Order: sequence, then structure tokens, then C-alpha cells
Amino acid sequence: MGNKFIIYILTHYGIICHMEKKKIIIGNWKMNPSSSKEAEKLFSGVAKGFSGVKKTEIVFCPPFIYLESLYRLLKAKRYTLKASLGVQNVSLGDVGPYTGEVSAGMLYGVGAKYAILGHSERRAQGESNGDINKKIKFSLVAGLRPILCVGESVRDEQHGYFNLIKKQVEECLSGISKNSIYKIIIAYEPIWAISSTPDRRDATPDDCREMVIFIRKVLSDKFGKEASRARIIYGGSVNSKNAKDFLQNGGIDGLLVGNASLDVKKFTEIIKICETLNK
Ligand code: PGA
Repeated sequence: MGNKFIIYILTHYGIICHMEKKKIIIGNWKMNPSSSKEAEKLFSGVAKGFSGVKKTEIVFCPPFIYLESLYRLLKAKRYTLKASLGVQNVSLGDVGPYTGEVSAGMLYGVGAKYAILGHSERRAQGESNGDINKKIKFSLVAGLRPILCVGESVRDEQHGYFNLIKKQVEECLSGISKNSIYKIIIAYEPIWAISSTPDRRDATPDDCREMVIFIRKVLSDKFGKEASRARIIYGGSVNSKNAKDFLQNGGIDGLLVGNASLDVKKFTEIIKICETLNK
């Protein structure tokens, strides 16, 4: 794909990426922290810091095992923070002989509202676009809102990474109805920018914006005008220093935060930045 085409889509589809949707900040805790007590402390630490978050949706995605106790905390309404919980994976099955797996329906039943699906750390373990597609379908049936992660491991000079992202989006969303598209969040996470990637480098809001516009084009080709209802967010070493720039200039509807979501101060700061920008 040549630069000319990229410039073409930038100019022709730039308008649709600014449709107003509620901004969302999602914390992907990955396999952290190491105990339930610490999980509650982390959650409470963030929750305590807020009274008036209105414009920003906040989601915590802890390991499965902490979900129930955090849901209890959330429901106890000890805090004024309105937040939701999400998970980082769901099973490829519903109920049945899937040893070691947990289904979307079970997770919905213990308080999850969102499911991160197709994260690069899971794709690295062999998860295919076809698997992710099935997981998205199970999630939607169960009532979970999928957060589909897409992202390239390298940016080649021939711009082949655009085709890779297109394939990820198209195959993962194959057979999804237009009417469900508003429930889907796409998280663009270039693997080369994720904090745990060896020799990582920073992505810029321009890198992000260009890809978001491209993803919007892929979505609108597939789903028509309903596509504009999907939220597209960015993830990859987001912190309290770069969050503002990404939110202002990345063409996004929110952020998927890994490492910095494990730090009460940093995650709180990111939420505050988002809330302030929305005012
Ligand atoms: P990071 O992780 O913010 O630590 O780079 C993001 C992610 O992998 O979801």
C-alpha cells in the first residue's frame, strides 16, 4: 500500500473519526497483582481518588480469580467511582469438556461487562483470528462487550502492516451483525510499542491516528454507517506523560493501559487527564 493511498484515506475519512462517543480508559492488569488483597488495594486506591468522573468510562480488567471480590467492592458502593469490570480472555466453548477454561457466560455471571480478546500476548500463544472470532461471538451472546486487540509486530517499509491489521479486523469480526458493532471496542496496540516488548520504541499520536483512520475505513467498508458507533482506542506504553497527547491527537475514543494501570497514582492521573479533556 503506497503513501498516496494513506494520504487519500486520511483526507477522505478523517471526518468520521471524530464522532462523539464516551471516552473509555481500560486497565489491563495482565497476570497481576499476586494476591487478592493487593488486587483490592489497587482497585480501592483508584476508586478512592474519585468523586466526579462523569465523562469517562473506567474499566478494570483483573485476572479472573479477583473478579468476584472486586465486583463485591464495586457493588458495595463504598466509593463514588462508577466503573466496570472486564476480563482478559474467555473460553472457546460455552459449557462442557473444556478443562481449565472459563466461559463468557460464567464471567458475565460474576460481574464482568467487558472482555479483552485477541491480545498480542495471547496471539503469541497460538490464538488465531478464527479463535478470536468465536470468542467475540460467545462474548456477545453472553452479554460481554468485546475489546478486540489488533496490532502489528513491526512496521515494514512497504506498509504491509496495513494489510495485516485489515485481515485481523475482518477475520475477527466475520459474521458479526451490524447491530452489534456499537458494543465493540477495537484496541490498536502496536506490539513494538508495548512496554514488555524487548527493544520497544514509542509510538506517536500520528502513528496512532493514521491507523485509527485506516481501521475506521475497514469497518465502514464492512458495516456501513453503523461502523462509526464502534469505539477505537490505543494501547502501548500509555502513561501519565503521553496520555494527553494520544487522547488529543491520536483520533481515539480512549486508552488501554497495561503497566501504568498497576500504579494507583499513574492510573488515577490518566483518568483525570481524560476527564479534563472531555470537559
Ligand atoms: P502496556 O501494555 O501499557 O504495559 O504497554 C498494554 C497492553 O499490552 O495492553
